[in-house]
Amino acid sequence: MNFENLIYEVDDQLAVITINRPKKLNALNRETIQELHDAFAEADADEDIGVIILTGSGEKAFVAGADISEFSDFEEEEGALLARKGQKLLFDFIENLSTPVIAAINGFALGGGLELAMAAHIRIASDNARMGLPETSLGLIPGYGGTQRLPQLVGKGRAFEMIMTAGMINADQALQYGLVNHVTMQEELMSHAEKIAAKILNNSGVAIATAIHAVNAGFKTGVNGYDAEIEGFGASFGTEDFKEGTSAFLEKRKAEFPGK
Ligand code: COA
Repeated sequence: MNFENLIYEVDDQLAVITINRPKKLNALNRETIQELHDAFAEADADEDIGVIILTGSGEKAFVAGADISEFSDFEEEEGALLARKGQKLLFDFIENLSTPVIAAINGFALGGGLELAMAAHIRIASDNARMGLPETSLGLIPGYGGTQRLPQLVGKGRAFEMIMTAGMINADQALQYGLVNHVTMQEELMSHAEKIAAKILNNSGVAIATAIHAVNAGFKTGVNGYDAEIEGFGASFGTEDFKEGTSAFLEKRKAEFPGK
């Protein structure tokens, strides 16, 4: 696929999506949001892709936020529409994909950039990364899921402090908060993400997709996560992957899963 603002690469079972607007610190304009949707949809629909890594180009930024120049003259209704469309097209879309997404945060992840990383299933950061939700400094609140996902990941008190101060935390603090799972030197960020991807790729893609659904169910209003787990657990017994996984264990060999 050809994109204006993204680089989309596939290596065997791994897709790497790199947001490529380095002069604008990879800020998310409308076109980039649509292209990200298309790239994620493409990777998710590809039976062979088992993991997606998302990162930013350059050494400075993952994503420095939504593109402020696009909404500076918006009124209330346009603002609400911007958030609603963006959440549906990209942020909720990523969170609910069947394919695991690892965000490799290679620098600033601010506003919509941190919200994008938080929509991924796993986050790792390079040691120069800075993360924050600066929206209140612009007279806004986070609009791409930040008021919901940040408290889920770091707890309400820390989330309130980050949102109210509009400040940035560094990679070590993000690690301590549980906002990222690992911190690496910048030159090792992608290889670290690939190592995690390789471990994921050993396992059943079908089971992983079911686990994503069950974990997410627990964070949805009106949905019982335990019920989703029971349903998914039961459904797993009807899959080829279950037969292969258990047979391989009993036969003392490595399981060969066909894909998602
Ligand atoms: N939207 C639009 N453009 C952005 C942007 C954003 N969110 N973040 C950075 N850019 C642009 C800058 O306007 C500048 O463009 P220019 O060269 O045409 O003037 C370019 O990216 C480089 O940014 P600059 O501010 O010069 O880099 P810096 O190293 O001095 O500062 C940041 C880096 C991240 C601290 C600063 O760019 C910043 O605060 N960005 C906005 C962060 C934000 O509030 N995001 C939330 C949006 S809801």
